[in-house]
Amino acid sequence: MKQSQDDLKRLAAAKALEFVPENEYIGIGTGSTVNFFIEALGKSDKKIKGAVTTSRKSSELLAQYGIPEIHANEVTRLPVYFDGADEVNHTLQMIKGGGGAHLTEKIVARLSEQFICLADESKYVTRLGKFPVAVEVIPMARSMVARKIVALGGNPELRIGFKSFNGNEILDVSGLDLSKPMEMEDRLNQILGVVENGIFAHDTADLLILAQQNGVELIK
Ligand code: 5RP
Repeated sequence: MKQSQDDLKRLAAAKALEFVPENEYIGIGTGSTVNFFIEALGKSDKKIKGAVTTSRKSSELLAQYGIPEIHANEVTRLPVYFDGADEVNHTLQMIKGGGGAHLTEKIVARLSEQFICLADESKYVTRLGKFPVAVEVIPMARSMVARKIVALGGNPELRIGFKSFNGNEILDVSGLDLSKPMEMEDRLNQILGVVENGIFAHDTADLLILAQQNGVELIK
């Protein structure tokens, strides 16, 4: 029987437990795949010291399972960060930010020695760019940034009714040429008023746990 996307997310989340180090703080991202991971971790007998997280939703879920939270400023390094992705390619570059948490996610990823990406097969792509790139912007610079993005070939759309963790706005940008993801990540971030964008070309995953209909594959 064909497994649903949620079944596959659960499968990736369960596999990820094998990579959780005991008696350490870990980093935990945001999204429905990560929610399954937090649930699996909470129900497992793995003993971790606690987690640095990247959104209120993940914090709430950690609290629900009695997993202690620690602030990013209280750690100098984390051995591992677990998070999902909207798209991931074969070199483990990603598009993230579907949940608008890519800034906090990039910060925690960079604090971590290893980034483990959990994904169902629909996220694995040969070429990044179908999923819009989330660009977090300072509200007063929104229109100015949008015009610069149009000049780069993108089509920005304001995420209505959404504020990021830091009170900023998100432009979801389709149509960008992501054939050189690192270049586009840098070009977007160089626009004054952009806080961070959801291209993870510099901060690639170290390991992808890819749940597919025929089983879980580990891709490095
Ligand atoms: C949030 C993210 C998520 O990791 C990404 O959107 C994937 O979410 P999901 O696991 O719900 O498919 O980057 O900002």
